[in-house]
Amino acid sequence: MFTMPIVNLEEHARQLGDSGKRVSVLWQHSESIGFIARGREYRSEFHINPSDEVMYMIKGTMNLHYRTPDGREEIATIPEKAAIFTPAGIPHSPRFPPDAFALITERRRREGEVDQFLWYCLKCDALLHNERFIVSDYTADPVSKAYARFFENETFRTCKSCGEVMPPG
Ligand SMILES: [Fe+2]
Repeated sequence: MFTMPIVNLEEHARQLGDSGKRVSVLWQHSESIGFIARGREYRSEFHINPSDEVMYMIKGTMNLHYRTPDGREEIATIPEKAAIFTPAGIPHSPRFPPDAFALITERRRREGEVDQFLWYCLKCDALLHNERFIVSDYTADPVSKAYARFFENETFRTCKSCGEVMPPG
């Protein structure tokens, strides 16, 4: 029988911080994924998730940048001990520092579902690149993989509209 996980969030976040890793997967079972994420010094991409997400701030504050249907960038601020529900399909960029921790739950991806990671030009806001990714296993840290692919390729980081090059990292 599956052992139902009971997670002490603050203790688990502390262990993740000590490990130096970005993500600690708590469960991937049935239709659910749960993980604790540590913030990044630098996060520039917008994630389009085929699943809904719930994000709860265990420690620290998150600025969730997101894009409205007409393409405007807005920011939702989630203080410590608060949660936000982000429906599937909204381009969103969770920005929080490396000493901040969030509990995130999503639906486990279905066969053929694709996650997208989008970068926009910092100068003119044109779309720079769309990295498409099949998230079959969250322990593989798909966000870090998408970042590596984007930043190692200068063509992806060069704006087709205004020529601005997003600096690596
Ligand atoms: Fe541009």
